[in-house]
Amino acid sequence: MTVTIVGSQLGDEGKGGVVDLYGDAADVVARYQGGDNAGHTVVYDDETYKLSLVPSGAVRGKIGVLGNGCVVNPETLFDELDQLRERGLEPDVRVGERAHVILPYHRVLDGIEEDEKADLAAGTTKRGIGPTYEDKMGRRGIRIGDLLEPAVLRERLEYVVPQKRALAESVFGVTLEGDAERAFDVDHLFETYRDYGERLADEGMTVDCGTFLQERIDDGENVLLEGAQGTSIDIDHGIYPYVTSSNPTAGAAAVGTGLGPTVVGQGEVIGIVKAYLSRVGTGPLPTELGGVEGQTPEYDGHSGDDAEEELATYIRDEGGEYGTVTGRPRRVGWLDIPMLRHAARASGFTGLAVNHIDVLAGLEEVKVGHSYEFDGEEIFTVPPTTEKWGRCEATYRTFDGWPDVDWDAVADEGYEAIPENARTYLEYLADELDAPLYAIGVGPSREATVVLESPYDG
Ligand code: IMP
Repeated sequence: MTVTIVGSQLGDEGKGGVVDLYGDAADVVARYQGGDNAGHTVVYDDETYKLSLVPSGAVRGKIGVLGNGCVVNPETLFDELDQLRERGLEPDVRVGERAHVILPYHRVLDGIEEDEKADLAAGTTKRGIGPTYEDKMGRRGIRIGDLLEPAVLRERLEYVVPQKRALAESVFGVTLEGDAERAFDVDHLFETYRDYGERLADEGMTVDCGTFLQERIDDGENVLLEGAQGTSIDIDHGIYPYVTSSNPTAGAAAVGTGLGPTVVGQGEVIGIVKAYLSRVGTGPLPTELGGVEGQTPEYDGHSGDDAEEELATYIRDEGGEYGTVTGRPRRVGWLDIPMLRHAARASGFTGLAVNHIDVLAGLEEVKVGHSYEFDGEEIFTVPPTTEKWGRCEATYRTFDGWPDVDWDAVADEGYEAIPENARTYLEYLADELDAPLYAIGVGPSREATVVLESPYDG
């Protein structure tokens, strides 16, 4: 069977830890979208691994698959594999031949386009994600399978690279120099990416993803489908245009792996929720506390409310809310329930994993945005346009805070050991989203989790 893990907010919900937890019972962990923009942290055996492309299950000796819906930067892939090997692991990672390749010109163009977009910029990770998906949809992309066939690779590069160069130089008026120049050099690209192709072939890393996964399922194995990013930055269901260029929502778990929707739908879909909000990038965030310059719209360094700024800094520091990939401070806010209702519906959550309730411990009170006031009406889910979302004001509910306790002991003792006020908060959440609690994260390591339900146990 399959278990699909989906971020229900803006990415950075702590999916890596949950994938790692449930990945134990899985034989294969497959990603279905995104690329090295992901940045997941896995803590295992007291070691911390920061990965951006390799599926987190690979740290635990599972087969990791990058599905056809992913965009793959081979340089990052091999860097991460080499680093894991240097640390004594033996990662087994396969890449779908239909997955698209991020080339150096995609990264250069990501930077150029972000600068050009000014206020419309999503604040991307500049990993070339958007430009690679654009080329996929424009049917001018280069796929992993093409790297294995030099003649095909050469032909594709000769077609596409002059267009990309013209885009950079003639449309955006950029003078390409040094590495940026080489990023648009057909001969250089051909040699470098043919070599990556050879390495992929030598290490037997490429697969026909759908067939590979279906055979495993037919053999009775468990497959975990690992979503990256989160619902509110989904290209269709997120705060467009401040989104990533793929679908983190569960529908993509089928399209992005080649498994049928009925196969994915017979499994479980677990929504990962962080007990508060965090966000890297711009766009509206109705429950935001304070702000981050350059990311919070119209924020010039102070919200005018000292207590709120202090609270934001406290949560940011307690939760380590600084980007895994970029190190940028993240915007933080109270839990946004309309955002979560939207996520639960879009992906059809069958269970919830709620992380980081320990981060909020010690606060006198904890708020949630229960609904929005929108043009004089109370609404319970996210409106379809970002402009409308920007006009929403959160209507709050307040919960009594919970004390900071020995969370490792809580993890050992189980759900009833979680402070009562925190349980009230969690149960409110499960009620609102109409999905049971499967796991509660009470600290950064895999062990610091209260497990109520293991999806593979049926
Ligand atoms: P891109 O995916 O690099 O194109 O960035 C588009 C938007 O998605 C930006 O606002 C990024 O900050 C955000 N984003 C991309 N990946 C992640 C992630 O893994 N966690 C949180 N935000 C992300």
